[in-house]
Amino acid sequence: MAARLDRITRRAHTLSGLLEEGYAIRAADMPGADDLMMRSYAATGRVFERRAQVIAVHGSRGGAGCTFLATHLARAFAERGRSSVLIDVDPYGGDVETILGITDGADGVHPMSALVDVVDEMTPGGLMDALFTHPAGFGVVVASPPDALSVSPESVCRLVDLAAAASDTVILHTGRALDEVTRSCLRTADVILEVLSLDVPAFRAAVRTGARLAADAVDDRTWFVVNRASRGEVLPADVERVFGRPANAVIPLDGSVPRLQDHGRLLGARSRAARAVARLAAQLLAETDRLAGVA
Ligand SMILES: Nc1ncnc2c1ncn2[C@@H]1O[C@H](COP(=O)(O)OP(=O)(O)OP(=O)(O)O)[C@@H](O)[C@H]1O
Ligand SMILES: [Mg+2]
Repeated sequence: MAARLDRITRRAHTLSGLLEEGYAIRAADMPGADDLMMRSYAATGRVFERRAQVIAVHGSRGGAGCTFLATHLARAFAERGRSSVLIDVDPYGGDVETILGITDGADGVHPMSALVDVVDEMTPGGLMDALFTHPAGFGVVVASPPDALSVSPESVCRLVDLAAAASDTVILHTGRALDEVTRSCLRTADVILEVLSLDVPAFRAAVRTGARLAADAVDDRTWFVVNRASRGEVLPADVERVFGRPANAVIPLDGSVPRLQDHGRLLGARSRAARAVARLAAQLLAETDRLAGVA
């Protein structure tokens, strides 16, 4: 007997799947079901095997291109046939839904706060069912609405673990400030993409981030991505001079990005900037293969 179906996955195909497997379904009112569910999950001490590569995208200076990179990377992975989930873990976020043209209250959109609320009751498959699917083929969890209660770093990490058990790639769109939720997301990531624009304030902000994260030991997992690259005084080669290693990717400036973003649309996949993001996705996949080979 299913004591209670996940609040969010009470969907027709969840039910039809159970019927196909031969379960008989009876509707019953069980006032203690929530509590029973929570205790049974706590008792089994849920630990999920991480299947996905978890990639955190972070920009230390506003406007470097954190949201551009996270959204286009999600599309790039989906194009390579990888199941991908993009989660807006920015506690003060909202950019992902704007840039993807997801309207407030759109059907099937569950924000971070709603999913975190039921994370301990959900299965990895249940989470995948609950995700909003972008037309480009990746799942999206939008940021909590401004009036939601704040979420704890632990519950955000549990949601990341759940997504990582159910998909090939999880992309965390992180906030700029190094609050506890953001730090936890950076710590749990397999790779951190630090996005830089080619200007002195962006470089200095990234240096400060590196110093603040020293205790988190994430330096060797941090990749530098130059975005909006164009001819100027600061060059992609300056990344190596300042950070001791070269940029892993250089994404060119494309004048059509701001207008497309204003319309909630992604850049054409054949554009130079989108192809640079696709090459970065390929490098990230190669890194997963390399680590799997070492293990
Ligand atoms: N490769 C690019 N070429 C041209 N414009 C870009 C590119 N990437 C981002 N932009 C533009 O630069 C601006 C900042 O990009 P984005 O919103 O992704 O940055 P962000 O780091 O998320 O900023 P914030 O800190 O404000 O959230 C936007 O107007 C976006 O349209
Ligand atoms: Mg942003």
